Amino acid sequence: MHIPNYQEARTRDKRDYQRMDFQLDQSLFNKYSGKKYFIKTYGCQMNEHDSEVISALLEKMGFERAKDYNHADLVLLNTCSIRENAHNKAFGMLGRLKHLRNEKKDLIIGLCGCMAQEASVVEEILRDYRFVNFVIGTHNIHDLPTVLDSAIQNKKQQIEVFSREGDLYEGLPVVRANSIKAYVNIIYGCDKFCTYCIVPYTRGRERSRKKEDILREVDELIQDGYQEITLLGQNVNAYGKDFYDDYNLANLLEDIAKKDVPRVRFMTSHPWDFTDSMLEVIAKYPNIMPSIHLPVQSGSNRVLRLMGRRYTKETYLELFHKMKDMIPGVAISTDIIVGFPGEEEEDFLETLDLVHECQFDNAFTFIFSAREGTPAAKLTDSVSLEEKEERLQRLNDVVNSYFLENNKKLEGTVVKVLVEGISDKKDMYYGYSETNKLINFESPRELKVGEIVEVEITSAKTWSLDGRSI
Ligand code: 5AD
Ligand code: SF4
Repeated sequence: MHIPNYQEARTRDKRDYQRMDFQLDQSLFNKYSGKKYFIKTYGCQMNEHDSEVISALLEKMGFERAKDYNHADLVLLNTCSIRENAHNKAFGMLGRLKHLRNEKKDLIIGLCGCMAQEASVVEEILRDYRFVNFVIGTHNIHDLPTVLDSAIQNKKQQIEVFSREGDLYEGLPVVRANSIKAYVNIIYGCDKFCTYCIVPYTRGRERSRKKEDILREVDELIQDGYQEITLLGQNVNAYGKDFYDDYNLANLLEDIAKKDVPRVRFMTSHPWDFTDSMLEVIAKYPNIMPSIHLPVQSGSNRVLRLMGRRYTKETYLELFHKMKDMIPGVAISTDIIVGFPGEEEEDFLETLDLVHECQFDNAFTFIFSAREGTPAAKLTDSVSLEEKEERLQRLNDVVNSYFLENNKKLEGTVVKVLVEGISDKKDMYYGYSETNKLINFESPRELKVGEIVEVEITSAKTWSLDGRSI
């Protein structure tokens, strides 16, 4: 049994990790034919992509996907720790699964993802959730087949969570959820240690994949007809720093953009690591989408310092305006936290000022949630939840007004849309523009999923736009 430990997760050296090739133990191949699995995924794109890998591992073992958890022999929760509500949702689901187990004695229940890396979660499972068959961490999903197999065969709870990232596995299989858009991991982990954030503890230190491995994966996706590739990492801008002296995100983006792929995106970017050469490459290649997610978190220098964000409001704004100048038509989205411990009304007003200045195209807004083991969880917090909720509402009113205002500017213009399908609700085609806006539209001719078409925008809403293809 391996249980997670934050002390160990925090002390990391820049040692070289091995890059290993994954091989499935032959005895497990198709061993569970006829059994069905269901994965419930919480959290970010990283988790969604991990679920695509886990699905493929299970399918190699013979499992087939069930349409819902009631029809599954194996239910796996791929969890998120970022805020308390994600954590509570996963525990709520475990409660429902406990009832299901009472009816279905052979049901196998597993937990993986970020919560598996939290010592307190694992302790709780060991103490109060004995019916959970196995727990596996984010650093060793390649061990899932053997851990699952031994949980089934030995009928004993298996906890296999490594506190520190181990070897970096290549050649893991993947079953992609979408046939035209694909995620490609380029860097794992995060070294920034923002004081509120649990990710460096749950995902480990920054480890870049080798450029050859990434470029090979991209080539295969292009051959398979994928139209859009999103490069993923907790902080993609740090790509290469741990591994290469002279190869970084700008080089990688350029190498990918030169290939025959219509759309390249990347996320998420920490403002600290953004270089001019990255902006130049994004501006130069039309197939790198002009859409950047640049979390600001707060507009108050005092709060930014407490958050350990390593930039000031002024340097953020400088970068923001440089992006707008260098990349014509770029859409910038952001993340903002309200109610960080010690955030006063004046600090919050500075955040509102920054939003008025930036007029973001999209923004994800959150109330601070104390995560056990992070430095911010120890700070004293005198602002009531009621006041935080009120701040969030005021912030949302402002950010939403700019989404609509920005969308209104597109009325009457023509945008390129990657067709994703027909929306059930609207009986219209839908897809995303280059700047990542959801477009619902009519078309005089039948369209294929994966086509890129020109759409004239007829009306703007806060969260989407309507149009007609031309
Ligand atoms: N509380 C609230 N929001 C958080 N985020 C990260 N950690 C926390 C936390 N403890 C937000 C940040 C980050 C996004 C993915 O989630 O805004 O950019
Ligand atoms: Fe949640 Fe962060 Fe883990 Fe993604 S990396 S699943 S956002 S805690």
